[in-house]
Amino acid sequence: MPPLTPDAPPDAPPRAPTFVSRAGAGTDPVAGPAAELAAGLQAQPAAIAPKYFYDPLGSALFTAITELPEYYPTRTEAAILQACGAEIAGVLRAALPPGFDLVDLGAGDGAKAARLFGPLAPGRYIAVDISEAYLRQALDALQRRFPALPMVGVGLDFAARLALPEGLPAGPALVFYPGSSIGNFAPPQALRLLREARALARGGALLIGADLVKPPAVLEAAYDDALGVTAAFNRNLLSHVNRLLGSDFELADWKHRALFNAAESRIEMHLQAQRALTVRWPGGERRFGAGERIHTESSYKWQPAAFEALLRQAGWRQVQCFSDPLAWFGVFLAQG
Ligand code: AVJ
Repeated sequence: MPPLTPDAPPDAPPRAPTFVSRAGAGTDPVAGPAAELAAGLQAQPAAIAPKYFYDPLGSALFTAITELPEYYPTRTEAAILQACGAEIAGVLRAALPPGFDLVDLGAGDGAKAARLFGPLAPGRYIAVDISEAYLRQALDALQRRFPALPMVGVGLDFAARLALPEGLPAGPALVFYPGSSIGNFAPPQALRLLREARALARGGALLIGADLVKPPAVLEAAYDDALGVTAAFNRNLLSHVNRLLGSDFELADWKHRALFNAAESRIEMHLQAQRALTVRWPGGERRFGAGERIHTESSYKWQPAAFEALLRQAGWRQVQCFSDPLAWFGVFLAQG
């Protein structure tokens, strides 16, 4: 693929991001999220998938979480990328052809990927996110900051399967999956996703953030902050579910719980009923006893060697781990 000209001619119309919608790919197109939510609420124990955190208010609350003193992952990852950026860029420049596609999984506002545009000089930016409306806005804004870089947005829930439309990417690519979102997947599903990411990279590379095992008190504070932002983020899930399912959750009835499950090496977030109650929605209901919980998120914490082994099991080679002085977070670089 020819390298792209860095600048458009002065009188060319401004470049616009292209957009591919695959948002429905993971869910039943007829039933939509309601069927999945109802099934989760009927399950024993009840569960709601963490992707439902991210309505507009939930996304704003998550951004607030990343700024909390207790929530170390975001700033630790940024510090690692800052400190080791030159070394990582050196490896990637040797491993990837000029003009490679940068595939950003869970792109959000694209700010993390944008920090790679200068050092890595990708030929195209492919941003994948479950929230299509948010991604459109974000890419429009990003395109104005980087007018010469072609951008493609893909609205996709890749939790079930990571498969992009034909031609995306066009050749060996860098798959970028920062933020330790891989932590939402149990090890077998994480392995599957890493294999799919390897197929996607077509012989290119992977740059991925994973949160590491550390003292439980540090972990539990990060998921139960003093200001109560994570509690609000967890409870806001219920108002999103009320809108999607037509349920009648009363947010005040539910208490935020975060605990480290050492046997499973994961932080679990739950919502705990403060009294016996019944939640109703069109076509169903669920009775909860006082103290009964809804499981809303698992966030797996890895030992560096275990995550490296998982990457190798998925077929990745030349795995390198970059970490902070306390080894609280890992940025892993691997080649296809
Ligand atoms: C976005 C999945 C990486 O697990 O740390 C933050 C989500 N939940 N606080 C995480 C989250 C509660 C976050 N990930």
